[in-house]
Amino acid sequence: MSYYKIANLEQYFKHYHKSVREPRKFWGKIAEENFTWYQMWEKVVEFNMAEADIKWFTGAKVNIVKNCIDRHLARRGNKTAIIFEPNNPEEEAQHITYTQLHERVCKMANVLREQGVQKGDRVCIYLPMIPELAVAVLACARIGAIHSVVFAGFSASAVATRINDCDCKMVITSDGGFRGNKTIDLKGIIDEALTHCPGVHKVLVAKRTNEQVNMVYGRDMWLQPLLDEASDNNVAEIMDAEDPLFILYTSGSTGKPKGMLHTTAGYMVYTAYTFKNVFNYEENDVYWCTADIGWITGHSYILYGPLLNGATTVIFEGVPSYPDFSRFWEVIEKHQVTQFYTAPTAIRSLAKESIDYVQGFPLKSLKVIGSVGEPINEEAWNWYNDHVGGKRCPVVDTWWQTETGGIMISPVPFVTPTKPTYATLPLPGIQPVLMDEKRNEIEENQVVGSLCIKFPWPSIARTIWGDHQRYKETYFSTFPGKYFTGDGALRDEVGYYRITGRVDDVIIVSGHNLGTAPIEDAINEHQAVAESAIVGFPHDIKGNALYGYIILKEHGETRNQENLRGEINKLISDQIGPIAKLDKIQFVSGLPKTRSGKIMRRILRKIAEGDYSNFGDTTTLLNPEIVEEIKAGKIE
Ligand code: WTA
Repeated sequence: MSYYKIANLEQYFKHYHKSVREPRKFWGKIAEENFTWYQMWEKVVEFNMAEADIKWFTGAKVNIVKNCIDRHLARRGNKTAIIFEPNNPEEEAQHITYTQLHERVCKMANVLREQGVQKGDRVCIYLPMIPELAVAVLACARIGAIHSVVFAGFSASAVATRINDCDCKMVITSDGGFRGNKTIDLKGIIDEALTHCPGVHKVLVAKRTNEQVNMVYGRDMWLQPLLDEASDNNVAEIMDAEDPLFILYTSGSTGKPKGMLHTTAGYMVYTAYTFKNVFNYEENDVYWCTADIGWITGHSYILYGPLLNGATTVIFEGVPSYPDFSRFWEVIEKHQVTQFYTAPTAIRSLAKESIDYVQGFPLKSLKVIGSVGEPINEEAWNWYNDHVGGKRCPVVDTWWQTETGGIMISPVPFVTPTKPTYATLPLPGIQPVLMDEKRNEIEENQVVGSLCIKFPWPSIARTIWGDHQRYKETYFSTFPGKYFTGDGALRDEVGYYRITGRVDDVIIVSGHNLGTAPIEDAINEHQAVAESAIVGFPHDIKGNALYGYIILKEHGETRNQENLRGEINKLISDQIGPIAKLDKIQFVSGLPKTRSGKIMRRILRKIAEGDYSNFGDTTTLLNPEIVEEIKAGKIE
């Protein structure tokens, strides 16, 4: 019996129980039957949760890109691996076959090696959503270089922090990128970032916009001429199962961004398995995930998961609103997309526009539609189900994280009955638990608690780059022996999970995780600012938006407040990126603080939400009178 595909609900439970009772047999069999290995493993899994020490398939030798591309060549050489849909619908889409992808990745891999990149080196990739991005990622993995993709919406200072944190020696970027009716000067951003990155010696530049850019002699090189010269014959690096595959940064509630490190074999097995089941993938499907490859969703479910299954995956350069709000539906019809995977924020922004933008499109090719990144509210779920899925396509509300590498809790389409706003049941191999305030495991149903996972799964991040202690403290110390997700969840009467949101100081804005600390740090750099506190408040489209409470220094109080607001947002935009800008800024004379000096964010959150009903216990406040002042000055 094979465990790779879940065919019905009975089988789901069977596989699930097997994965809990005999995880080694379960994953061992999946790994053995569905991938090619240079050498098999000695142990399926070894772990010590208290030490945050987890290893899968130790002793095995493998190359993930051989599994993504080479092994498909005999049977699927002429099959389309990647459909590239450009930002501008007038520009022709590209269909890249597995054979062509192989050739491009091999050439790129040879270029990287010729430029001195070796196994274990870190390469920063800062590219728009163009085929070169996929090729660069896969070429790194092929030669064992650790890719660190940085979303091309991050500012120069955010890129520099990420480059320096993991010591990248090379950056791959482009002259620019197209996004809707805008052109973004990516090379200019990299030039600025690199003034703070002494470790970067080479920059490879792809052409996309053909805008004039500055090339630094001895450091910058155009990519295409190097590719033209390169051989398409490349021997892949033989990797250990636990060799690093990539680093991807995610926001923490405090401190600098965390470079989550994923390793090779476990990540490969889990992303392939979950892609197959969560999207009910079959051979002739055309799969489209609208995320950016700069996020984990793009890593696992635009590139690795689909390619490992020999699928056709769409890479979309544009935005849902350009040239108009029909773009998603046009692309689905154009390429006859069978699985569509997007974020609640995109769904909400389209649902608020005229229904005509979607109604003209039959969308009959669709089979499964998915959601990821934040809780999906009932209205958005229903709109998606009715107007996109035509009430025919199961909606898979997939809960997971950068840290988990792959989807953890999700319906299996045509198997698990869906329920709006519920991510439903854990996938085989995933053992979620809810914890109460006393840190005990809650056994019963119909409860809320902190969501933890009590047994390792193959694609869990292995560490935070350069800071294992922080990894241990962040994820394994709140509830000793368990992985703590940072999310709260509700479990209903049949055991379905609904993710209620973050229980820490991470705020999810339009699906992007933002830590409050780095934003506050950016604000505090303004010379007129004394102190600040950021909270999230509900927003119709973005899910959450940011509300800032700011104390000015004395000389700042005489300044024009609108100008100050503009300057503060500019600072945030420069240091982190436009996604972190504040929607509302209230200048206050103080912040509610406990006697130990801790800001009571709970109160600030309630005020920002406009909920003055129950502030809870405020007796521990040092300055209770400030609450009334803040309420009175609330920005609507
Ligand atoms: C949130 C994205 C509710 C959650 C793959 C998690 C969700 C964080 C869902 C991780 C969902 C993701 N329902 N909340 N279906 N999916 N989240 O690292 O708070 O960008 O902890 O990974 O997004 O975001 P990240």
